Amino acid sequence: MKKGNYNLIIAIDGYSSCGKSTFAKEIARILHYTYIDSGAMYRAVTLFCLRNRIIENDVINITKLRKSLKDIKIEFKYNSNSKQFETYLDDENIEEKIRSVKVSEFVSQISKISEIRSKMVKAQRILGNKKRIVMDGRDIGTVVFPNADLKIFMIAKPAIRAERRYKELLQKGMKVSYEEIEKNIIQRDHIDSTRNISPLKKAPDAITLDNSDMTVEEQMSWIMGIIQNLKKNES
Ligand code: DC
Repeated sequence: MKKGNYNLIIAIDGYSSCGKSTFAKEIARILHYTYIDSGAMYRAVTLFCLRNRIIENDVINITKLRKSLKDIKIEFKYNSNSKQFETYLDDENIEEKIRSVKVSEFVSQISKISEIRSKMVKAQRILGNKKRIVMDGRDIGTVVFPNADLKIFMIAKPAIRAERRYKELLQKGMKVSYEEIEKNIIQRDHIDSTRNISPLKKAPDAITLDNSDMTVEEQMSWIMGIIQNLKKNES
């Protein structure tokens, strides 16, 4: 963990459905930081591909995707009602649409493509320019912000993760089966951690958090203790 001023960059990486976004959003809320969901950017590209027939009959047309890359306009805009940044694709709010099972099915394959990753990493670094940011994803501590002030690597038992995801999607009114969710999580873990470019792995200076049996409150008191220590070391 690096000493630094209190304008921190906090990088949170980990497997799918480990509760990274809940954890990151809550930290951002407490510290009045900006939360950025980097996975949403890869999901937005995937939605773009599905809509523009770059993914057709379950096959990704890489050549077509490379040609269209410059046309993909992803932005985050602040919603003062939800007090969150929401994802936009060509000025359309796609925050909900990118959580669909269809997008989840293809997003890991899309995020393996090097040109996509370069474009996303560049955009993510610009978002982190002013610090005071919490960003979650797979390569935030290793690639996007290797000098982040605080890096957390989140893990949780697979069955717990599948159960959380299942409940979350049901709550959103989506029709899904538990088996389908579990299969998707296992598949994405495999693709995300074995891909050649920026695979999911723990940065050497990251702190592991296994939140399998922890409430959000417990996770917050754990992380706030760490952040307080960063402040103490600094002064
Ligand atoms: O966090 P998530 O499950 O919404 O992310 C969706 C996918 O995007 C995930 O399966 C892998 C990819 N991803 C990535 O490759 N790098 C990131 N920094 C964030 C997500």
